[in-house]
Amino acid sequence: MDISLHNEDFFGGVGRIADASVDLVIADPPYGLGKDYGNDSDRRYGEDYLAFSRRWIDAVLPKLKASGSLYVFLTWQHAPEVFSYLKTRMLMVNEIIWDRRVPSMGGSTRRFSSVHDNIGFFAASRDYYFDLDRIRIPYDAQTKKARSRSIFVGKKWLEIGYNPKDVWSVARLHRQDAEREDHPTQKPLAIIERMLLASSPPGGLVLDPFMGSGTAAAAAAVHGRRFVGFELNGDYLAIARERVAAAQPSQSKAAGNGGSTVDEFRLV
Ligand SMILES: C[S@@+](CC[C@H](N)C(=O)[O-])C[C@H]1O[C@@H](n2cnc3c(N)ncnc32)[C@H](O)[C@@H]1O
Repeated sequence: MDISLHNEDFFGGVGRIADASVDLVIADPPYGLGKDYGNDSDRRYGEDYLAFSRRWIDAVLPKLKASGSLYVFLTWQHAPEVFSYLKTRMLMVNEIIWDRRVPSMGGSTRRFSSVHDNIGFFAASRDYYFDLDRIRIPYDAQTKKARSRSIFVGKKWLEIGYNPKDVWSVARLHRQDAEREDHPTQKPLAIIERMLLASSPPGGLVLDPFMGSGTAAAAAAVHGRRFVGFELNGDYLAIARERVAAAQPSQSKAAGNGGSTVDEFRLV
C-alpha cells in the first residue's frame, strides 16, 4: 500500500497533493497550549492560533473528495471557534468527546479538572462515506441474555452490535504502555482506527497534516489505506517510519469485508 511520510512543513507539501483526491483527513494539530514538539509549532495563542487553524483548514479542504470527511482533535480552549469556522465550510456531523480516562488524583482546585479532547467530525457533503458495520460494538453476553425475551429473539441489531456513541472512553497512553512512543501527545491507535475504518473506504487516501509519531500512518498500513503525512520533527518522522514498517497488514480489514471489527478495539 502506498504510504508516503514527509519530514516537511505541511504548508510547503500540501500543494503536491491533487485536489479532490483525499477520502479522509485526520488532523491532530498543535493545541495552542505550549507543548514541546522540539519546535515552536505549539507556541501560538489566541488570534494567532485561530489564524493558523483557518490556514491549515483552507489548505486541506480543496484536497478532499465530495465524499470525504475530516476529523480534528481540539481542546475546549479553541474548539468553539475552530468548529464555528469549519461549519462555514463543511457539514458538522458530530462532536466526539474523547474521555482520556484520567484517574482522580487531586487536580485543579479552582475549577473542574479537564479530562477530555473535543474531536470534530465534519463532512465535505451530505454524501460522505460512512461504514457503520466496520465499527459496530458487539453486545456482551450479559446484555444479550437480558434481551432474551421472545420479542428480542432474532433481532438483527442484537447480533450485529450497536453503533458507537459520541463519547469515546479510552485511556491516554502511559509511559509504560506497549504502544507508547517518544511523543508528548501521541494518540491511541484504537481511536484513529475507528475514524479510519468508519470514514475511509479500503484503498482510500488518508491525509494527516500533523503526523507526530505516525499513529494514523500505522493505522493506514494495518488497514489497507493509502496515506500521506507531514511532520516537522525528524525524530518523530523516524518513529513513524518504524511504526509503518512494523505494521502487520490485516487481509480481512484491508478487504473491508464487512462484519464487526470491534473486538479488535479497546473502545466502548
Ligand atoms: C498533536 S501532535 C500529533 C500527534 C500524532 N497524532 C500522534 O499520534 O503521534 C502535532 C504534531 O504536528 C507537528 N507539526 C506542527 N506544525 C506542523 C507543520 N506545519 N507541518 C508538519 N508538522 C507540524 C508537531 O511537530 C507535532 O509533532
